[in-house]
Amino acid sequence: MRAYFLAGVILISLVGATQIASANSSLAYEGRRLFVSYCQLCHGPDGRGDGPLAKSMKITPIDLTKSIRARSDTILKKIISGRGRQTITGRDRHNLISDAMPEWKDVFSDTQIDALISYLRFLGSSKHKLLGDPEIGRQLYRQYCQVCHGEEGEGDGIMTTLMEIEPMDHTNPNETNSLSNDILIKSIIEGRGRYMPAWEGILTQSEVEALVSYIRLLSH
Ligand code: HEC
Ligand code: HEC
Repeated sequence: MRAYFLAGVILISLVGATQIASANSSLAYEGRRLFVSYCQLCHGPDGRGDGPLAKSMKITPIDLTKSIRARSDTILKKIISGRGRQTITGRDRHNLISDAMPEWKDVFSDTQIDALISYLRFLGSSKHKLLGDPEIGRQLYRQYCQVCHGEEGEGDGIMTTLMEIEPMDHTNPNETNSLSNDILIKSIIEGRGRYMPAWEGILTQSEVEALVSYIRLLSH
């Protein structure tokens, strides 16, 4: 009895502690927010170059989901910030980045540029679509999932001290990429193993899809 009581006290104090600590989320998640405000007008919501402004300016930004694979982070930093952009070679068309691509050096901090690069890497490598709204997913994840899956999705939430099993690391792209959106949705709705609860009737389909999108961004 006493042992249960003590365990309860420890648990409550641990839960209290995580509520105070604020969760940092993945860079790609932050990058997506910036991309939506600053880049998609030209590059299109999925980076494919079909944004509304590009059409009216009669420019054709390259398909970022393809072009960025061959670009190192250093080069991407130069391209996005504009610092040292003129020295970039290796482009097929003119070896130059078109002037229509604004220079962002006075707009973003280095961390924000890193976040944008993470999101571009996500666009260039994820096999899976973002089905739902990851903003909503982040709030739900913090509220209902981080106790087990961890603040950053690494599978090290405080409840894992009570379970004998650690959930998979949602920040590991090899692990989450191997699971389709349908499989993730099914695990969330129906539950998995002994400890992963079933959320059917608790979360709506669109909330589950929002969570799946957030999990996708966690791995980048
Ligand atoms: C006003 C339109 C516009 C906006 C806004 C814009 N871009 Fe561009 N971007 C372009 C154009 C045009 C190119 C050049 C395409 C080309 O030369 O093929 C380009 C090129 C790029 C490239 C280089 C692609 C490559 O590999 O050659 C990257 C990376 C890029 N943009 C990222 C961004 C990011 C990140 C943002 C938001 C912070 C952004 N762009 C906002 C128009 C824009
Ligand atoms: C009580 C602890 C607990 C909570 C709360 C919890 N999970 Fe899990 N979850 C687990 C465990 C443990 C597993 C691994 C199950 C297995 O494979 O046996 C898991 C597995 C999963 C899986 C399957 C893929 C994987 O990571 O193994 C997904 C997706 C998932 N959880 C998402 C969520 C989401 C989204 C929430 C919040 C709505 C959530 N979980 C809440 C414990 C939890």
